[in-house]
This record gives sequence, structure tokens and C-alpha cells, in this order.
Amino acid sequence: SVVKNATLLFLGRSVVRLQALLGDPAARLFGMSPSRDPYPAYEAVRARGTLVKSRMGLYLTASHELCLDLLKRPDFGTLPAGALSPVDSNAHVDGRRLVNPVEESFLVRNPPDHTRLRRLVAPWFTPKGLRAQAATVERVVEEYLDDAARHSTFDLVGDFAARVPIQVIADLLGVPGADHQAFARWGSALVNALDGVRDLGEMRALHRGLREFEAFLDDLVEHRRREPGDDIVSALVAHDDLTREDLIATTELLLVAGFETTVNLIGNAVLAVLAHPRVRERLIDDPAYADAVIEETLRLDPPVQYTVRIPFKSTRVAGTWIPKGTPIMLMLAAANRDPAVFADPHRFEPGRPDGREHLAFSSGIHYCLGAGLARMEGAAALRGLFGRFPDLRAAGRVRRRPSRVIRGAARFPVHTGAARHHT
Ligand code: HEM
Repeated sequence: SVVKNATLLFLGRSVVRLQALLGDPAARLFGMSPSRDPYPAYEAVRARGTLVKSRMGLYLTASHELCLDLLKRPDFGTLPAGALSPVDSNAHVDGRRLVNPVEESFLVRNPPDHTRLRRLVAPWFTPKGLRAQAATVERVVEEYLDDAARHSTFDLVGDFAARVPIQVIADLLGVPGADHQAFARWGSALVNALDGVRDLGEMRALHRGLREFEAFLDDLVEHRRREPGDDIVSALVAHDDLTREDLIATTELLLVAGFETTVNLIGNAVLAVLAHPRVRERLIDDPAYADAVIEETLRLDPPVQYTVRIPFKSTRVAGTWIPKGTPIMLMLAAANRDPAVFADPHRFEPGRPDGREHLAFSSGIHYCLGAGLARMEGAAALRGLFGRFPDLRAAGRVRRRPSRVIRGAARFPVHTGAARHHT
């Protein structure tokens, strides 16, 4: 293991930095494996104060007010390039530098680059852009439910929840049909890297995924140059001043951000509905209630549990002097249960009056670009699922994803019950 660690260090000091920053201290702080219920640990953080320093020297907050404040402050931004990198920023393959999506996409860039890149893809996510997606979302949900209905048990995640967002984002990007499975594979490899790369095998898998994805994108770009469509890649290709790196990083961001998060929203929402029979009854009677169920799932069990911000200059935060560049973990999932904002915060109560104050989609300039699309996909999935299978029930143990950043089920066997005939 010494040899392995040395190789890892050699391969990418950034990996080690990522783990030093988030992975191990977070595990030690929470004293738990990521698969277990993290919410009691968040309450322990809240009980210690507004801004808490862990034994490892990591700052974190469970306060809704402080999270919101730091997300909106212009003197705070994302981590410096390299800090979060799961890929060695000097890695070259076949003479080309591998693009590191975590480091180079606008998710982790500050203005003015952030503003410039976000603006290029924003039109697809406006209310008008979303209306154009609505039919695709409904069609995709129905198609996969038709598939699922052929068996009395299926994996809610692998056979349904994961397929919907992949198909929707592939459609937005203009990816031809045959490539969707590969897309899903690359998306998973990239999102797994968010937690840090644990060993050489994972590092290799990540590099392989990135390489395949870049080769695929280079082909897609060529294709769209010759035959432009009304998709995002065609639009990006039309911008002559966009570098290859920016194009790849932006496309990768949309794939990763739009895929794993939405899968987990659907999974977490179904878990909540199965645990609350009255919510299920109401959902079956009134499909429009799905919107409220999705919103409350985002609050109580959000797919993205935390993010990080750093001050550009030394500054005071909640009475503590924070040196320039010090990362602060903003526990979005804990902020969503802050009793200062939410009445009876641990209760699952769709339609609660304070329900939309949650930070599941972050806030400020990095507010999730796909929030509207995610809500639409989540609600369509719930409506479709419980409309078709009102007696849906768990058919075995749910396996959780081994991640602290992303929360959700990796495998979720369900039984359809008696299916309603679909007309
Ligand atoms: C950013 C959550 C779905 C695209 C974010 C951030 C969060 C988030 C928390 C901000 C991170 C930060 O402030 O550091 C979620 C959740 C989703 C979801 C919980 C599903 C339930 C989507 C979808 C798309 C998308 C469907 C697009 C297809 C993006 C993009 C950003 C982003 C592009 C970067 C925005 C920026 O930096 O300006 N998302 N997301 N997300 N999300 Fe989502």
C-alpha cells in the first residue's frame, strides 16, 4: 500500500489534496460511513454553533442564514483551481491534455469566466426552454415505465430513475441515440470522482472515462459542425472563440450535474412516498401533488449534501477571523433542517408554507441552472410511477451510494403490485 500511495501521489497530488480537504476529515468529523444516516451528525454540528471548526481544522456551518449569506457574498467564491481536482492537471494522453471537468467547468469558476460560460447554455433552461423539454420528459418517463411494467420487480434506480435524466440531457446536448449507455457510464465515473479517488483502480477508471468521453465529444463536435441542430453542442460549436477545453468542460458539467443528482432526487422521493402512506394516497388522487412531494424531498433529503466556498480576502465570518482562501463547508442538507427557518424541520410535509426556502439547489450566482428541469423530471417520474403502479412497494434492501456529497440509492428493488392498465 506504500507503493500504491506513492504512485497516487505521483499521479496527482490534487487527489490527495481533495481527500485531505473533504473526504477523510468529513468522515472523521461525522464518525460514520457515508451510507448511514448523516442527519444526526449535522445536528451535532448545529449544536456546536453557527461556524464550527473541526479537529482537522476544517470550518463548516449548518446554519441556513450563514450558508445563504456566504453563497451570495461577492467576496466569496469557489475553490482555487486544482484544490478539488480528481485528475492530475498535467496529465496528457496522446499528446493532449485531459480536461478536468471538476476544475474547469463554470460550476467552479468565478466571474467573469463563470458569467461568460453560463450565459452560453442558459437559454435551454429558461421557462421557454423548459416548455420545449416537457414533451420529451413525459415521453421518456412513459417509455421506461412500459419497459418496467414487463416485470413484476425491477430496480427503481437502474431500470428507471437513472434512465430518465440521461435520456433528457442527451437529447438537450444532441447526442445520437446509440450512445446513451456509454453516456451513463462516463457520468458515473465522473460523479464518483467528486468524493475523491480512493485507489489506483478508481484513478484509472476515471482517466479511461474521461478519455473515452473526450474522444466521443470530439466526434460529436465534428458531426455538429457539419450538421448543426437546435441542441446545446451545436450552439457551443458555433461560438468560434470557445476553446476546446471550455467546450468539453461545459458539456461534461451538464452531463454530470444533470444526471446523478436527478436520479437521486427520484430515488429519494420514492423512498419518502413509500414511508408516508397518506402522501401516497394523496399523490394517487391528485397527480399535481407530485410537485409538492418533489419540493419537500429536495428540502429533507437533498441529492447534493454540501458545497464549499472560500473568501478571496481575509474576512470575519460569524465572529471568527477567516484567512483568505480558507475553505468553508456549507452543509446545504443541514441548512434545510434549520429550525430557525423550518417549523418542525425533520418532518416530511409536502406543501409546507416554508418549503421553498431550501438550499438544495444552492443560491447566488451558482444557483443550479437545471433546477427547473430537475423539478420537472422529478414530478413527471413520480406522477408516472404512482399513476401506473399505485401499489408500488420495496422488494428488498436499498443499497446506498458510497458518497458523502451525493445522497441517494444505488440500488432500490421494487415490486410493481397490481399494475393499472395504461391507455
Ligand atoms: C449547480 C444541485 C439537477 C445543471 C448546482 C448546484 C447544486 C445543484 C447544489 C450548485 C453547487 C454550488 O453552489 O457549489 C442539483 C440538484 C439537482 C440538479 C439537487 C437535481 C435534483 C441539475 C440538472 C442540470 C443541472 C438537471 C442540467 C441539466 C447544473 C449546472 C450547475 C449546477 C450547470 C452550475 C451552475 C453554476 O455554477 O452557475 N446544482 N442540480 N443540475 N447544476 Fe444542478
